[in-house]
Amino acid sequence: MKSLDQFATGKLDDLQRRHLRRALSDTYREDGIWVERDGRRLLSFSCNDYLNLTQHPTVKQAALEALKVYGAGSGASRLVTGNHPLYAELEARLARIKQTEAAVVFGSGYLANAGIIPVLIGRYGLVLLDELSHACLYAGAQLSRGTVLVFRHNDVAHARELLVRHRSEHDHALLVTDGVFSMDGDLSPLADLLALANEHDAWLMSDDAHGLGVVGGGRGSSFAGNTHIPVPLQMGTLSKAVGAYGGYLCASAAVIELMRNRARTLIYSTGLPPAIVAAAIAALDVIEREPGYAALAVQKAKAFTRAAGLPEAQSPIVPVIIGDEQATLDASDVLMDEGFLGVAIRPPTVPAGTARLRLTFTAQHPDDQIARLARLVREKIPVA
Ligand SMILES: Cc1ncc(COP(=O)(O)O)c(C=O)c1O
Repeated sequence: MKSLDQFATGKLDDLQRRHLRRALSDTYREDGIWVERDGRRLLSFSCNDYLNLTQHPTVKQAALEALKVYGAGSGASRLVTGNHPLYAELEARLARIKQTEAAVVFGSGYLANAGIIPVLIGRYGLVLLDELSHACLYAGAQLSRGTVLVFRHNDVAHARELLVRHRSEHDHALLVTDGVFSMDGDLSPLADLLALANEHDAWLMSDDAHGLGVVGGGRGSSFAGNTHIPVPLQMGTLSKAVGAYGGYLCASAAVIELMRNRARTLIYSTGLPPAIVAAAIAALDVIEREPGYAALAVQKAKAFTRAAGLPEAQSPIVPVIIGDEQATLDASDVLMDEGFLGVAIRPPTVPAGTARLRLTFTAQHPDDQIARLARLVREKIPVA
């Protein structure tokens, strides 16, 4: 045991020296925007609850009712006895929103990506990822045991170059990208990537964790700009704008049936608690019924970037890049002293030298507070 603890302590000391050690902070979320942390009441610009639906009365009520009817947990894998009847409703709803034949719900977004990619790509396959793809897309790619290549962020020409050079060496190829990039808030050029994938008999997969509910009229990044880009593999999560939990894939009926048969993270993991599935259905109801409300998060982010003199927001996520890790931690403290929560994001979550405050905007953030935050960022934060 001694060498084990020595190993752990050595690793932690190293992280500390590099200003990369992390700590969990108890956070009490009072409502959709206010939190209490370290004894302080703060207006949070660090939650992914873009539509504040975690706190919506009908969403909470739906969860309570499902809890009473079905109990707390699902009791087994979906493939055994954990497939409570709410799943079918949620999956039909997701397929309708994304305009695909079918959908399947996983235990989380991370589990979805770790499960989906190895079903489609094996030892002789190729996974081509945008370099800023989320960590769980990288995890799924590595689990596939295929060849993993990375193209420069949103650089379709570079992706083409790699496909031209390597596609013929592999039986199948998967082109993977975030739809809305989680740490930068920009959108992927999905139309161009889809055309490229089709040219080379590759399959395009987008991770729309940060798109569903807030861009493209609430339908997500493949509907942004009033178009519909028929991305064949549309993955996402129910844990951000939807305010619940769970991951999903929307795709053709054949692909979804294959996932139900082969995705290890679906087969060998317990089904979601029924209350969470009920909450997700109720939240999707709000998103479909109230497109004006769903558009608010991006509108608020745009108001902020205008006032702060930053590049215009394309999603509710606004990166305020500082660069140095310690300077970013200090900037987060400056915000906290003014009553705002803006958590510092450091490597390896973002590339070295690009530590940042990742600010997220929600439908219910008051305009005057957004203006005050913008003034603070303009005057007191050393933006790179
Ligand atoms: C782009 C992206 N994909 C996937 C995930 C994982 O989703 P979940 O939180 O449901 O595991 C996240 C969340 O952190 C994300 O930002």
